[in-house]
Amino acid sequence: MHIRLLLTISLTLASPLTQILAHPSFATHSKTSPLIATEVDKDCLNKHNYLSPDAATPRGKKIFIADVPTYFRLDAERPPTKVLLFLSDVYSPFNDSNQLVQDGFADAGFHVLGIDYFYGDSVSNYIGRPQEEILAWIEQGRRQADEALPRWLKGVKQIYGPNAKYSTVGYCFGAPYSMDLGATNEVVANAIAHPAFLTEDHFTQLTKPVFLSCAEYDRTFPPGNLTRAADILRETEKSYHIQIFSGTEHGFATRADPADSNAVWAKDESLRSIAEWFDRFSK
Ligand SMILES: *[C@@H]1O[C@H](CO)[C@@H](O)[C@H](O)[C@H]1NC(C)=O
Ligand SMILES: *[C@@H]1O[C@H](CO)[C@@H](O)[C@H](O)[C@H]1NC(C)=O
Repeated sequence: MHIRLLLTISLTLASPLTQILAHPSFATHSKTSPLIATEVDKDCLNKHNYLSPDAATPRGKKIFIADVPTYFRLDAERPPTKVLLFLSDVYSPFNDSNQLVQDGFADAGFHVLGIDYFYGDSVSNYIGRPQEEILAWIEQGRRQADEALPRWLKGVKQIYGPNAKYSTVGYCFGAPYSMDLGATNEVVANAIAHPAFLTEDHFTQLTKPVFLSCAEYDRTFPPGNLTRAADILRETEKSYHIQIFSGTEHGFATRADPADSNAVWAKDESLRSIAEWFDRFSK
């Protein structure tokens, strides 16, 4: 009931922004391939931060790779064989919720690197601002990510070398970049959670195994489009796995209300299963 009520409210509030965000100029990498997940919208922007004062403290640090700020969590106990590239949502890898997710992957045995393609200027600075400003911010973020990712990845590979196993996970805004990498030999596998900005090409062009961690309620990647994505993956004989969590909405994989046991379970299970998916291909 609680969730349904919130959803109704957010749907009512969402319409004007959603219309503006449906603007095609920054929708996709491909102008011709049909859309399968649309733009960052209100569901992405107005998320609660559920961290309480006694929540865990992030344990990573800020470094620069190819001049791009990067959240870095190293477990000195482990050899640098498994490297996880974390492609964040609009809140940036330095958002406390996202830092804790990255720490979770580090605890699961990965060297975690979260690229900040927003260069410290995350959407948190724009909440409540006029829609045009938010749109301009998103477009700039896309341009910055397009420009920064290739040289950042080169820098990462100089650190860890050719024998490490690289995998990548993209949340919302980060999803298309994760899917792009999944079509190259840069990574052994990719994963996306509640994705935005995808076209059918992102699925047909994949060459690496993909994991989809999905919310039951997601206007950016609604059920019919998720089904279409699954059909493409099957028809084109990709290696894939899809999970859907009932009672969840867009954003569920990075933050959960501690009072909502279903939400907490879904968030933890998403992380655990993505880590296991990457483990499979990192031997
Ligand atoms: C779902 O897919 C259809 C067909 O490609 C597309 O027109 C629509 O924009 C998609 N919806 C979202 C929310 O991406
Ligand atoms: C982190 O993101 C949440 C939304 O999930 C936001 O409420 C909060 O202000 C952000 N924290 C920082 C430090 O930007």
